[in-house]
Amino acid sequence: MKSDKSTNVVWHQHQIAKADRVRQKGIQRPAVLWFTGLSGSGKSTIANAVEQLLFAKGYHSYLLDGDNVRHGLNKDLSFADADRVENIRRIGEVSKLFVDAGLLVLTAFISPFQQDRALVRTLHSEQEFIEVFVDTPLAVCEQRDPKGLYKKARAGEIKHFTGIDSAYEPPLKPEIRVDTSTASVAECAEQVVAYLAGNGYL
Ligand code: ADX
Repeated sequence: MKSDKSTNVVWHQHQIAKADRVRQKGIQRPAVLWFTGLSGSGKSTIANAVEQLLFAKGYHSYLLDGDNVRHGLNKDLSFADADRVENIRRIGEVSKLFVDAGLLVLTAFISPFQQDRALVRTLHSEQEFIEVFVDTPLAVCEQRDPKGLYKKARAGEIKHFTGIDSAYEPPLKPEIRVDTSTASVAECAEQVVAYLAGNGYL
């Protein structure tokens, strides 16, 4: 969504560019690992595990997490469709800044709408956006219900809950798909790190 409110602003070209920061770090190619999946699918848990593996090996990363970002930057946004779109748009822009800073960025947001994820993809260069589909069936997420939210949603106490009365559109061609019903958290995390290593990010 392009806002027309910012007029008369001119882009500043800085002397230190992304390529300089990447060269200075000399250890990694920056990118965003965009985790998407239902609430309770394991996005945050797996992203956390991936970040721990990266950190232990000396890589520079940052994890943006839906629940946490909604405590600060995005605390003005609800779960109505339009606000979810804005949530993802902002995180897309933040992830772009962090990639520009030379980091391996991990994001863990439901990001339920195909179109919004596609928009974030267009913000990044082709190599810099890696969509990670945490493919956990609704029935499994609902059975886990780590925060008791599915129960509340079924009881009608939470409206617009993803998978219950709000849509989730699965990615059609994610770069990585992790199957949490057959693989452990550690295995899923290893799979993601192996992708990074195998594709020249590490
Ligand atoms: S998104 O749809 O806008 O991408 P986001 O990832 O930021 O969602 O936040 C999802 C988290 O908010 C869930 O893990 C859950 O803890 C909480 N939550 C609260 N209300 C809802 C709701 N109506 N639908 C989905 N998640 C909700």
